[in-house]
Amino acid sequence: VRKLYVIGIGAGDPEYLTIQAVSALNKVDVFFVMDKGPRTADLLHLRRHICEKYIVDREYRMVEVPDPVRDPSISPYASRVEEWHLERLALYERIISEELAEGDSGAFLVWGDPSLYDSTLRVIDTMIARGVVTFEYDVIPGISSVQALAAKHKIALNRIGGAVGITTGHLLSEKSLREMDDVVVMLDGNCSFKNIDCTEFDIYWGAYLGTQSEIIIAGRACDIAGEIERVRSEARARNGWIMDTYLLRRRRAVSDQEGR
Ligand SMILES: C[S@@+](CC[C@H](N)C(=O)[O-])C[C@H]1O[C@@H](n2cnc3c(N)ncnc32)[C@H](O)[C@@H]1O
Repeated sequence: VRKLYVIGIGAGDPEYLTIQAVSALNKVDVFFVMDKGPRTADLLHLRRHICEKYIVDREYRMVEVPDPVRDPSISPYASRVEEWHLERLALYERIISEELAEGDSGAFLVWGDPSLYDSTLRVIDTMIARGVVTFEYDVIPGISSVQALAAKHKIALNRIGGAVGITTGHLLSEKSLREMDDVVVMLDGNCSFKNIDCTEFDIYWGAYLGTQSEIIIAGRACDIAGEIERVRSEARARNGWIMDTYLLRRRRAVSDQEGR
């Protein structure tokens, strides 16, 4: 039987890899790496670096495959994403059957943790349902950007007994915030924090967390929203890409803010 490992590699720092992830890396014959173009070459280098750093006395191969690009001519958006998922599915089936012999182990190295805004596990479920290629698989958790953000700001995500939400920039609105006092926002290319009532929230923002380019800024939304937008756009221009995440925390009287 072929074996697949879906390995969370953490959100930037090679030291975010767990011992379980390192053990799994050392069982792999073929690494499947999605190449998302020159703008994200840094992320590809990190994956190679992780293999060189942690794999000891073992031969392995890297198979780099160009990630399908979403076709902008397809609308609506949902059909475009569906088409893109189908292409990914066909690609995964092809590389697993062509590059992985029976009895060999392959791995997908997933940024952060595979459970958060990553399609690998969904594609694997669909592959299993289709049965075109057969394999067993394990999922190894990683340090997500959400955990990295909290650690860098030295904060707990929830307040006493409170809920924490995770959403995307696209879905962030006054309405979505009404039910939550603490919300982590990911995948936000538009600085959506500008669209909320800044008097109500503090922001804990982090970009390139765990990497040498890391930037963190925290404060009252009204005071720092403009600064974050400027710093973000300068950093994006400098590096050619950006990944940033932030926690929006509803402001409360100081006496309510103690505890964990
Ligand atoms: C496609 S999602 C992948 C999330 C990933 N699976 C995780 O566990 O963090 C990409 C989003 O994660 C966040 N992200 C990932 N790595 C980050 C980092 N090093 N610093 C800040 N945000 C990051 C950003 O919001 C980015 O838009």
